[in-house]
Amino acid sequence: MITGTVPVVLDVDTGVDDACAIAFAALHPRVDLTAVTCVGGNAPVDDVVRNTLIVLDAAGRRDVPVARGADRPLLETPVDARHVHGADGMGDLGWAPSERTADPRHAVELLRDVCAAAAESGRKLTIVPLAPLTNIALLLRTHPDAVAGIERIVFMGGAAHVGNATASAEFNVFHDPEAAAIVLGACHELGIDVTMYGLDVFYDPVITREQADRLVAGGHHGAAELAGRLAHYQCDRFGGDAATIGDAGAVCAVVEPDLIRTEVLPVRIELAGAWSRGRTIVDRRDWTGDLAHDPHGEAPVRVAVALGVDAARAARLWYDTLLASTTSPGPAEPTERSA
Ligand code: BDR
Ligand code: CA
Repeated sequence: MITGTVPVVLDVDTGVDDACAIAFAALHPRVDLTAVTCVGGNAPVDDVVRNTLIVLDAAGRRDVPVARGADRPLLETPVDARHVHGADGMGDLGWAPSERTADPRHAVELLRDVCAAAAESGRKLTIVPLAPLTNIALLLRTHPDAVAGIERIVFMGGAAHVGNATASAEFNVFHDPEAAAIVLGACHELGIDVTMYGLDVFYDPVITREQADRLVAGGHHGAAELAGRLAHYQCDRFGGDAATIGDAGAVCAVVEPDLIRTEVLPVRIELAGAWSRGRTIVDRRDWTGDLAHDPHGEAPVRVAVALGVDAARAARLWYDTLLASTTSPGPAEPTERSA
């Protein structure tokens, strides 16, 4: 059980479900949302910045700095996921863009600065990457002293069992496998605790179309209305009457860690492989006899892998937080919407 507020930085590729995560982090009273950094992933990075500013405006959080980061993976050719998230990366809602612009610093510089400030104040940050790990890899390689301001990293990515971008690999890790390998390796070297919120739990917390209706009814171009419209988009896009909160589940698990059941396990990132590049290889063997005869040996990097989630409770936490924003006084300044 967390008491007090948790200083959080999100790294995002907004993204329908990133938007749900940003809205939750912006509104939940126990999240101290310090900054949001953007990276190319679901959509090109400029679209990601625009979408991120829209969500923060809708949540009445123009105080949160947003920085533009890497526009492509370290080695891979960028592949977006607009077939999932819409042509604009955020459900093609026609929502008016923010009048605010991004922070002039590169995302890596903003991350460096907020980590330094956190180290100085003694309020260490929980970094929550919900996107390809390019920015975070660049941070940890360029400014390893940032570790002094980092409490832990909780990232959405990978899986012990399934893939989505390919049969083997989850999108965020598949998009930039080298970055994921660098981040896990650097965290091991620097002593940063890592939790992996992957596809084993990602799809489970869902809200219903009726709940989405109630959020939309909050109106005033606020975060609840936006999130409800994004849930409708998902229902319509994939068919059915439920929408996953996706990336937002990882932020819920920062606020209420007992929402997820984790096991600390050795993890490697597959960087080769004809069909398996970008897979997170999670070692669940419990018989040391096999290990003793394994030519690769055990991976040195150990990660708390989420293998179960109290999906109903996570979805409820997210939904209640968004719904509360429709009745609390003035969190969402009206923004103009295009026709
Ligand atoms: C991840 O990929 C993106 O499409 C989502 O935003 C999420 O971060 C799921 O594989
Ligand atoms: Ca994402």
